[in-house]
This record gives sequence, structure tokens and C-alpha cells, in this order.
Amino acid sequence: MAEASGYEKLCRMSSPVRVLAIESSCDETAVSVVAVDGAQVQVTQNLVTSQVPIHQRYGGVVPEVAARSHVPETVSLLQQAINAMGKDGFDVIAVTQGPGLPTALSVGVEAARTLAWMTGKPLIGVNHLEGHLASAWLNPENRAQWEFPLLALVVSGGHTELVLIKDFGDYEIVGETRDDAAGEAFDKAAKLMGLPYPGGPQISRLAQQGNAEAFAVPRPMLDDPSLDFSFSGLKTFVRYTWEELKAQGEVSEQTRADLAASTQKAIVEVLCVKTLKAALRYQVKGVLLVGGVSANRLLREELGALFERSLPGVAYMPSDLAFITDNAAMIAAAGYWQWKKGNLADWREFDIQPDLNFPRAV
Ligand code: KG4
Ligand code: ZN
Repeated sequence: MAEASGYEKLCRMSSPVRVLAIESSCDETAVSVVAVDGAQVQVTQNLVTSQVPIHQRYGGVVPEVAARSHVPETVSLLQQAINAMGKDGFDVIAVTQGPGLPTALSVGVEAARTLAWMTGKPLIGVNHLEGHLASAWLNPENRAQWEFPLLALVVSGGHTELVLIKDFGDYEIVGETRDDAAGEAFDKAAKLMGLPYPGGPQISRLAQQGNAEAFAVPRPMLDDPSLDFSFSGLKTFVRYTWEELKAQGEVSEQTRADLAASTQKAIVEVLCVKTLKAALRYQVKGVLLVGGVSANRLLREELGALFERSLPGVAYMPSDLAFITDNAAMIAAAGYWQWKKGNLADWREFDIQPDLNFPRAV
């Protein structure tokens, strides 16, 4: 009789399934273990080290620097996790395969391949974007309301997408940015205003003291029938406004806060209106809010309030603040979804997929 495959062996195993995941697609190195036992989902390890202080010096992520920093961090986090739970404390290995910076992705992928070879445990390649979707599923209240079709607003430094989720593993992009991502718009506007990287949190902090009506920041494509976004015009507006203000003399902290508040409001408004439009068009049962920009308080509050007002039957499911920025718990959760489907990889042929994305709806 042929030897049972890793997947067959796992199906026979008693629960829970413990997924160890590695994430290294950009500027966070992360290792997590998530145990799933029926409806119980427990994040038993969640280790993250951020390279933000390193990249701050350059005003953005430098791929080569990111990759080099991932090497010692990945080893150290894996060592910590495995020391804490023992060599048999996990059943499956998941790793971010893409999208992301090629050299950065390679670090996590090579570590995962080596681990799969050494331990004989099954290996799963995870789409980082599916990981962001799964970050919302880590919240028990969201899980209880999880009914397809769902819509996700994925907003990060590299992505601004409206994703229609028809089932686990069945995703379609129904709207996306035609130029800058929402996070990029925050970061670029912040840079123009002399704020450090990453600019999103800086803008939202400053905006608390600002008047959001002070500047008429454009709302690009707000009335366009498509579900696409465009944020590059916003950056141009901020550049000219900032130059004009500077030409008139020293820009006061209040004026800077006003510009921050006005910029934030414009971005949030466009994101909210398009998400509502998409939810109506696709008759979804719930809306996920995921990705780095979903840490933005105004966006979290406004989107929730808008759905409560306009579509109270649609569940609003933002991911927890703890799982918003890149982490490996979300990769483990998406890895679990893939494992359930039997999508296992062969470590001998496993490689990065830097351009991985969801298909665009036709
Ligand atoms: O998902 P993420 O951690 O990394 C990727 O890009 O994959 O997202 C980072 C982005 C950055 O552009 C950062 O400025 C933005 O998320 N961000 C925010 C806030 N916190 C992080 N943008 C607006 N408001 C925030 N509070
Ligand atoms: Zn991300």
C-alpha cells in the first residue's frame, strides 16, 4: 500500500491542527502558531519584529535592507517559537509566497522549505492578501457572522482593493486603485508635509487637532460608476497646497493639522462610499476591513457608522488592531483555509510568487 500523503495523515489526525506560519513579504518579520479545533481558533504564538525604525532613515522600505534584516530575525523568531512549544508543537507549515518584495519573500520561503524538509510536515504557500482577509476571521465575533458572499476593503501601503469573497479561496477583485494605494497616499502626503515615515499614523495623529473642512482636498473618482480608486491627484493637491503655504511664510502647526485632517477625510470618504456601492452591487452579507490603513480610527468608525445607517443587515467586520499590520497569525489562518482544501506544496519545487494577486472580475 502506498504511504499516506501528508494531507491524508493530517485528515486522520485528531484535532486541533496547529499551523506554524512565517511572514517576510515587506518590512515585518513574523512567526505565529494558530491552533484550530472546530470553531475554536487560538493564536498560541504571535511574534513580530518591525523594521520600521531601520527604514525610517531612508524615508521608505529599501528592499535589499529589508531582505538582509529578515535573515537573522526569521531564525531568531523561529527559534523562540519552537523553543516555547517544542519541535512537535505544530502540524503544518505556512509561509507567505507573495505578493511582496522578491528578496524579502525568499527569506521566509527558504526557511519554510528547510523546515518542511527537516520535519516532514506539510507545506502551504499563502497569498499575503488572503492573509489580510483571514486577519478578520481571527476575531471570534466576525467568525460567528461569517457568511458568503462577503466583501473586503483591503487597504495597505501597497494595495487598495475591493475583494468579493464567494467562498474560502474564491476571490475576485471588483475595484482597485488605478495609481497609488491609500496607504501610499497617506505616506506621500505626510512626507510632503515634513512628517516621518510611515506617514499614515502621523497624519491620523495630527488630524485629531485639525479642521477637516479647512482645505478642499479632491475626492477622485467618487462619482465614477466603477468601483476603482485613484489617489495620485491627492498627492499633487497636497504638494501644491504645501508649497503655496510655505511661500506665504512659516506654516503653523495648526495649518499642518488642518491639511492632515482634510487629507484624511478625503481618503476615508472615497473608501467608504466605494465600499458601500460595492456592497450594494454584490448583495453581500458582510464587509471586512483589513490591511495597515484599517488602523485609521476615522476609517474604522466612519465605515462602521455608514453600514449601520445604510445597510444594517450587512455585518461590519473590521480585523482586530492586533492583526492589522503584517503578522504571521493571519498567514497561519489563511494557511489553515488552504490546508482544509488540500492545497499542499512540495518543498522541492516551492518558490516565491512576488506578483501573486487575486483575479479581476470581468
Ligand atoms: O498592511 P501594512 O502594514 O503593510 C503593507 O503595506 O502591506 O500597511 C502599511 C500602511 C502604511 O502606508 C501606513 O502609513 C498605513 O498602513 N497606516 C495608516 C495608519 N496606520 C498605518 N494609515 C492611516 N492611518 C493610520 N492610523
Ligand atoms: Zn500586508
